[in-house]
Amino acid sequence: MKERGSFGSKLGIVLATAGSAVGLGNVWRFPYMTGENGGAAFILVYIVCILLLGIPGMIGEFVVGRYAQTNAARAYDILSRGKPWKLVGYLGILTGTIILGFYAVVAGWCLEYLLASIAGQLQGDAEAVKNYFATFSSNPLKPVIWGVAFILVTHVVVIFGVRKGIERASKWLMPILLILLLVLVVASCLLPNAMEGVRFLFEPDFSKVNRRVFLDALGQAFFSLSLGTACLCTYASYFSKTTNLLRSAGQIALLDTVIAILSGLMIFPAAFSVGVNPDSGPSLIFITLPNVFQQAFGGFPFAGYLISVMFYALLVFAALTSTISMHEIGTAFFTEEFHLPRMKSAWIPTFIASVLCVFCSLSVGAYDIQVLGLPLMDFCDMLTADYMLPLGGFFTCMFVGWYIPKKIVHTEFTNEGQFNHRFFNTYLFAVRYVCPIAIMLVFLHQLGVI
Ligand code: PHE
Repeated sequence: MKERGSFGSKLGIVLATAGSAVGLGNVWRFPYMTGENGGAAFILVYIVCILLLGIPGMIGEFVVGRYAQTNAARAYDILSRGKPWKLVGYLGILTGTIILGFYAVVAGWCLEYLLASIAGQLQGDAEAVKNYFATFSSNPLKPVIWGVAFILVTHVVVIFGVRKGIERASKWLMPILLILLLVLVVASCLLPNAMEGVRFLFEPDFSKVNRRVFLDALGQAFFSLSLGTACLCTYASYFSKTTNLLRSAGQIALLDTVIAILSGLMIFPAAFSVGVNPDSGPSLIFITLPNVFQQAFGGFPFAGYLISVMFYALLVFAALTSTISMHEIGTAFFTEEFHLPRMKSAWIPTFIASVLCVFCSLSVGAYDIQVLGLPLMDFCDMLTADYMLPLGGFFTCMFVGWYIPKKIVHTEFTNEGQFNHRFFNTYLFAVRYVCPIAIMLVFLHQLGVI
């Protein structure tokens, strides 16, 4: 068999996996979910989900992927010795491809906003900025073209392979994103009335905690960590045997959460300052951000211009490092299982996701394409984040906790006994009991059983 790709350095591993985790899930989805669910109380539940379920789940996928060193479906298959656990791998591959389809729509919006900000078109008062989004998203052609273009760019990076494409891109882009985010947080918090936004983010109002909050927070935590799609399992198959899985999962989860909260701190003070409702949904960042650029840097229009161009450029890159990882799940699968060269196999996820992207994009703009009363785009989002990801995570925890021989889990967790002994039993307890039970409880709660 041909030599498989692998990540080149420890830093590369963490950055590429963090590149998958950090994306529109942090900067776009987290703020609007927080806004729709009432602010600080949602964030608290979210953080509990990351700590209690996210980190153990991540390590679970790492264990499977790094042990098996192959694509997700075969990894579960090898470890289950013929039992049907490979279905969990298939579920992950399917989920990743559906997410790629609707995620590319929003990534395409970011591309449009990048070009619009370069051309200086995002000017005017809050109303004008709102209209810009409405006009753009209801256009039948433009958003569709941007979405598909985004998938094609992803395709090109993915065919260059793991080290040259994915790792190199992530190493550069992640640190720049963090710095720019910090600049914008300061700018946003200096706007008039900004403190109301800060309070919304940090002062919990428990009367706003309803049934949805738990499932939404769980889904968002999994979505943001790229957990439950077999993406982490696929990336872990490129890890080296010396990678410390516990430490890597902790670092990635921390970085991911910090970026999500910073994104909230960038969006909400601005939203309150210009009077945009925090619960205005998926369009939230596209309406509030242009206002931050204009108002905060009012006295220095060129600075506002520059920061806005840089920010949308980075948003595009953050989205790209995530779409690459979703695409890689399918590409690795088709390359290895169908014995195709990467050049060819990459077209399969590209094609499926592009078709989905076209219909998702039209469903939130020009046409009324609905499934179960929701626009197709929202339906795909709900189906994956609320159901498929938690289910994928649930089965991974059951698999790692109960099915795989404990010795293998121990070997992977401790790198053959080198470290983390102390935490091993705690870890096992988490994947055996805490994660599956908590996910079940959230589902039952959502169904109204408890
Ligand atoms: N975690 C990514 C984000 O936050 C989205 C993602 C989901 C990536 C599933 C890969 C797999 O943007």
